[in-house]
Amino acid sequence: MCGIVGYVGPRRVVPVLLEGLRRLEYRGYDSAGLVYQHNGELVRHRAKGKLVNLEGVVDEHIGVASGTGLGHTRWATHGAPTENNAHPHTDCKGEIVVVHNGIIENYNALKNELIAKGHTFVSETDTEVLAHLIEDCLDGDLVAAVRTALSRVDGSYAIGVLWAREPELLVAARNQSPLVMGVGEDACYIASDIPALLPYTREVIFLDDQEMAVLRRGEYSILQIEDGVPLTKEVTTIDWNASMAEKAGYRHFMLKEIFEQPQAILNTVSGRIVPDTGVVDLPEIGLDPATINTIDRIALVACGTSWHAALVAKYWIEKYAGIPVEVDIASEFRYRKLLVNERVLTVAISQSGETADTLAGIRRAAELGSKVITVCNVVGSTMTREADGVIYTHAGPEIGVASTKAFTCQLAALFLLTLYLGQVRGVIDPVTQKKLGNALIDVANLIESDLPRMQKDVQELVERYYAAKDFLFVGRGLNFPIALEGALKLKEISYIHAEGYAAGELKHGPIALIDQEMPIVALVPKDTVYQKTISNVEEIKARQGRLVLIGTEGDEHLASLTEDVVYLPHVREDLMPILYTIPSQLLAYEIANRRGCDVDQPRNLAKSVTVE
Ligand code: F6R
Repeated sequence: MCGIVGYVGPRRVVPVLLEGLRRLEYRGYDSAGLVYQHNGELVRHRAKGKLVNLEGVVDEHIGVASGTGLGHTRWATHGAPTENNAHPHTDCKGEIVVVHNGIIENYNALKNELIAKGHTFVSETDTEVLAHLIEDCLDGDLVAAVRTALSRVDGSYAIGVLWAREPELLVAARNQSPLVMGVGEDACYIASDIPALLPYTREVIFLDDQEMAVLRRGEYSILQIEDGVPLTKEVTTIDWNASMAEKAGYRHFMLKEIFEQPQAILNTVSGRIVPDTGVVDLPEIGLDPATINTIDRIALVACGTSWHAALVAKYWIEKYAGIPVEVDIASEFRYRKLLVNERVLTVAISQSGETADTLAGIRRAAELGSKVITVCNVVGSTMTREADGVIYTHAGPEIGVASTKAFTCQLAALFLLTLYLGQVRGVIDPVTQKKLGNALIDVANLIESDLPRMQKDVQELVERYYAAKDFLFVGRGLNFPIALEGALKLKEISYIHAEGYAAGELKHGPIALIDQEMPIVALVPKDTVYQKTISNVEEIKARQGRLVLIGTEGDEHLASLTEDVVYLPHVREDLMPILYTIPSQLLAYEIANRRGCDVDQPRNLAKSVTVE
C-alpha cells in the first residue's frame, strides 16, 4: 500500500524517481507525485490516477544534473484520491516535504494542535501532519526535528523527508511499514520494495521498526529513532536482477508470471530435495528435530491467496506428517482468543512478508511461546526477519497484483515442509517419500510442456463466458481451495462476481443460484473423490447450469456432460492443486483482458497490504 522511493546521488534524479515508481506502482495507483531539489528550491509535481498521468506533467529529461528527490505512488487511506491529496506533502512554507506509506493514527489530535499554533493544512491526509510537525520541531537540524516529530506520532510509517535548505540530505524512517535502503557507488536510495532499486544496486539494508536513515551522496548512517544511537546494519546482496521485474515481451506481468511458474516451482524445490530419495533438507527452517518432535499442532496463518495455499497444506500435513493443522485468516487469528503455546508451530504464509494482519498474527503467536516460521517470497521482508525460520519461495519478483506464481511456489514450499516434517517425525515411509518428491518435480515439468495448450483451450472458452455476471467454482478435497482461488482470481481482475464452494456443499444453499445463465467451473480430476464430484456436476447439469469442466486427459465422460472441457495431464492426486490452479488463472486473465480490464492493476487493490 503506497510506494515510496528516494534518491541522493550524482544521477539525474527525475528518471531515477520515475523508474522507481514504475516498479512500485503495483503498491497503489490512486495518485503519484515526486519532488526534487533544484537551485535551493523543492520542485513538486503531482497527478491524480496512475503514474502515466504524472509522467504527462513531468519532463523526464529535465536538466537537473544530479540530485536529491522523493517519489510516491498512493493507495488512498485518508482523503479521496485527488491531486490535492497526492504526496509529497509540504509544511506551511513549502520547505519541508514528506512522502509516507502507513497510517498516522493520532493525526487528528496533532492536526488540531498544529492548527491552534497557526499551521495551515491544505489536504485531507494524515501524512500532511508529519510535514507540519517536523516544521514545528525544526531548529536548524532536520535529523533532530524528524526524531522529535516521530516521538509524537502513533501508527505506522515509512517516510522520506527533504528540506530545501539541505540539498544533499534525505532523511528516512520506518515503523511497521516496509523500507529498504539501497547502497550504490556515490549514491543512496530508499524504497518500499526491492524492485525499485534493482536497476541501480543490489546492495541493500533493511531498516527495522523504530530506525531511521540519514542519507547523503555516497554516505549514510542509521540510528534508533528514540535515542539517536547509531546502529551498524548488515548489507545484503539481492540475487534478483532488474529484468526479472520487467514484462519481457508479455502484454501483462500477470501473463508473464503465469508462464514463469514451472521454472519458479523448480527454483523453489531445487537444492532442497534429493530427487532419488525425496529426502528434504530445509536448514533455514530454524527448528531442530527435537523441537519438531514436540509439536502437537500447527497453526497456518495467511490472507487472501496465501490463505488458499494454507488450506491445501492442511490436507498435506495432516496426511503425511500426522500433525493436526488449523488454518486461519490472519485478520481473524490476530483478534481471537488463541490457544497457542510452545507446542504449537505457527506458519505464516505471505508473498510480500509485509501483510499487516499476518505480521500481527505471528507476533501474537510468538508472544504466547509458539515457534514461528514463514513461507515467504521477499528476501529480508519483515516477516522473514521476525520469524524463527524461513522457507523462501524462489518465485522472483511478482509484480501483477493478482498473485499467480507466488501461489504455486507457496504450494511447492508447503509440500516440501510437509515432507520434511513427516521425515523428521519418522511417519512417512521412504517409498512414499520418494514418489512424492518425484511427483513434485514432475508437476513443474508437466506445467511447462502443457501451458501453451492450456492457454489455447481457455482462449476458446472466453467468447462464451466473458459477459457472465456471476460464476461459481467448485471442487472437492485438495481442489476445494483451488476452487476458492479460481473465484478470487476472476473477481479481482475481471470484476465478475464469483464464489468458490466445496462441491458437496452446493446442495446446502448455492444450488439455488443455478440457472441457464450461471457458469460453473468444476474441478473434476480423476482422484479419490471423482465419483462424488461427478454426482455434483450431474446435479448442476440437471438444473441447466452452464458447465466448464477441468479434468483428466482421457476422461471421455466429461465431454458428454459439456462441450467446454479443459483437459490436464494425469498427475499424482496430492500434487493436483498445483496443476489445477493454472487453467483458472488463465481463465481469469483471458476474461479480464476480453472485458478490457486493467489486469495488472485492478481497481481498489494493492499488492502489499500493509494496513489492517
Ligand atoms: C490475490 C492476492 C492477495 C494476497 C494477500 C496476501 O491475488 O494477491 O489475496 O494473497 O493480500 O498477501 P501476502 O501473500 O503478500 O501476504
